[in-house]
Amino acid sequence: MHALLENLHRDHVNLDRLLELLESHLNAFYSGEESDFDLIIELLEYLECYAELVHHPTEDLIFEAALDRSGDKRPTLEKLMGQHKTLVELTRKFRQSMEGVIQGAVMTREELEIEGREYIALQRLHLDTEEGEIFDFLDDCLDEPEWRRIEESAPKYDDPVFGERDPDRFRILYRYLFEHQSAE
Ligand SMILES: [Fe+2]
Repeated sequence: MHALLENLHRDHVNLDRLLELLESHLNAFYSGEESDFDLIIELLEYLECYAELVHHPTEDLIFEAALDRSGDKRPTLEKLMGQHKTLVELTRKFRQSMEGVIQGAVMTREELEIEGREYIALQRLHLDTEEGEIFDFLDDCLDEPEWRRIEESAPKYDDPVFGERDPDRFRILYRYLFEHQSAE
């Protein structure tokens, strides 16, 4: 598999881990247990930032390059590109809902639970479609000059949690992942 797709696949593995973490903390919150809101909000901030700056723009470049030769995959590629925008908006919206809870906003636990579960379900559906239906096809579809051209225009921003970490951002999330890595 091309290195760019390998990187995106690695992002998906990380995303999968973060969605599980998010889901388990939200489940605790939904059932009335004490929850680490700072961790949840920082995790959502990271998902929003990295997806918007790097992960989705890179996928969009690849999907667009393959679009004219995608045949019956074309509707799926177009749907995934649309979901990239929706997912960033939903991440922001859900983060704002969680921040609202801390600030005493009137939103029931049930409303938050529905929003959170729908958000996680769409993230997983999106990720599974890319991994299960699209990545192998893209690997066969594009040739070396096309990959080089995509690589040149892809964002170069490093992953601030799983890559060269940013010392000033995502400290709570980074520490949590670091402390829990050996338990997995
Ligand atoms: Fe993706």
